[in-house]
Amino acid sequence: MSIEELIKKEEKYLANVYSRYEVAFTMGRGVYLYDTEGREYLDFIAGIATVNLGHCHESVVEAVSEQLKKLMHTSNLYYIIPQIEVAEILYEITKGFKSFFCNSGAEANEAAIKLARRYTGKKEIIATVNSFHGRTLGSLSATGQEKYKKPFEPLVPGFKHVEFNNIEALERAISRDTAAVILEPIQGEGGVIVPDDDYLRAVREICDEKNVLLILDEVQTGMGRTGEIFAYMLYKAEPDIFTLAKALGNGFPIGAMLAREEVMNAFKKGDHASTFGGNFLACTAAKATLSVLLKEKIYKNAEKVGKYFISELKKLKNEYDFIKEVRGKGLMIGVELSIDGREIVNKALEKGLLINCVHDKILRFLPPLIINKKHVDRAINILKEIFEEKF
Ligand SMILES: Cc1ncc(COP(=O)(O)O)c(C=O)c1O
Repeated sequence: MSIEELIKKEEKYLANVYSRYEVAFTMGRGVYLYDTEGREYLDFIAGIATVNLGHCHESVVEAVSEQLKKLMHTSNLYYIIPQIEVAEILYEITKGFKSFFCNSGAEANEAAIKLARRYTGKKEIIATVNSFHGRTLGSLSATGQEKYKKPFEPLVPGFKHVEFNNIEALERAISRDTAAVILEPIQGEGGVIVPDDDYLRAVREICDEKNVLLILDEVQTGMGRTGEIFAYMLYKAEPDIFTLAKALGNGFPIGAMLAREEVMNAFKKGDHASTFGGNFLACTAAKATLSVLLKEKIYKNAEKVGKYFISELKKLKNEYDFIKEVRGKGLMIGVELSIDGREIVNKALEKGLLINCVHDKILRFLPPLIINKKHVDRAINILKEIFEEKF
């Protein structure tokens, strides 16, 4: 089917909610995607921070294929062995966090908000301006970007927003009815906003002082993206609850809400559930993904190559004055421009490089964590070509 036909059919049959680039992919291997014409693309967006081990990673494909032949679904009426196995791996990594599994990031945050209210018996949740936590009504209420929220009011009551990376604002906002603070360690959809190195630790201290739970939304920062297995390890600020999704199944849909044992134990039977949550295939994918991530220490590669990538982007900043800032941790990288970045993304697509742009002016790079310097050099050369032709 040609791209023109696809566009027509999408218009006719699908909800009009996505602005898509004019390409459809039919195959992926490692850091490359292939379109309907067989053209190769270097994928520096990885399904939006999802395919961290690269497309169709052999271990994940094999494990899921084997499971697919055996059993797909029974529901949580019965014990699910891969679910328990993934929870055990996560318990080991986190030194004692228990898991609840669901199917997406938004659902994981819903579960976190419910648990915080259940454990504390309090209602108020403090989130940050410019944050993104998902599109369901609860996670949208936590989200700090009006454009996503306004048309869907009234949202869930009890949410307050304070400036990100501002400790005093947070301290002032906490009241006697505050159950939890919810934050992304690095704001992703907000434009790769990296807080001061000591921010998260200071948030942890305030939460301890005021007896408030700290929920970290690691949906985007988790699973090695920032150079550590989870970003809270990078910032040395352990949450009470944290959420995962995106890369947990290396592309297979799965979400998880993890909490310290004492906090998780506040959930009683029937308090929360999901028909598909923690199903055989998703947990098999997560088990294989975690095992590769840990065995091969892929997050260390993210740290090393991320540093190189950032230094190469900073060189570009010295050459082109429309580049205002280069920022990021590991392979979660943003380049803020003084010009519109969307045309650059389209030009990159034409040249076989997939990147993304948020808030019109921030180029975002979220490649698979398995990339090496050669991939970075290729991406940098393509960007240079575009900048030379255009500006
Ligand atoms: C930090 C963060 N939280 C939550 C979500 C929502 O995840 P999902 O789209 O899987 O519901 C996203 C998605 O981009 C995210 O970046």
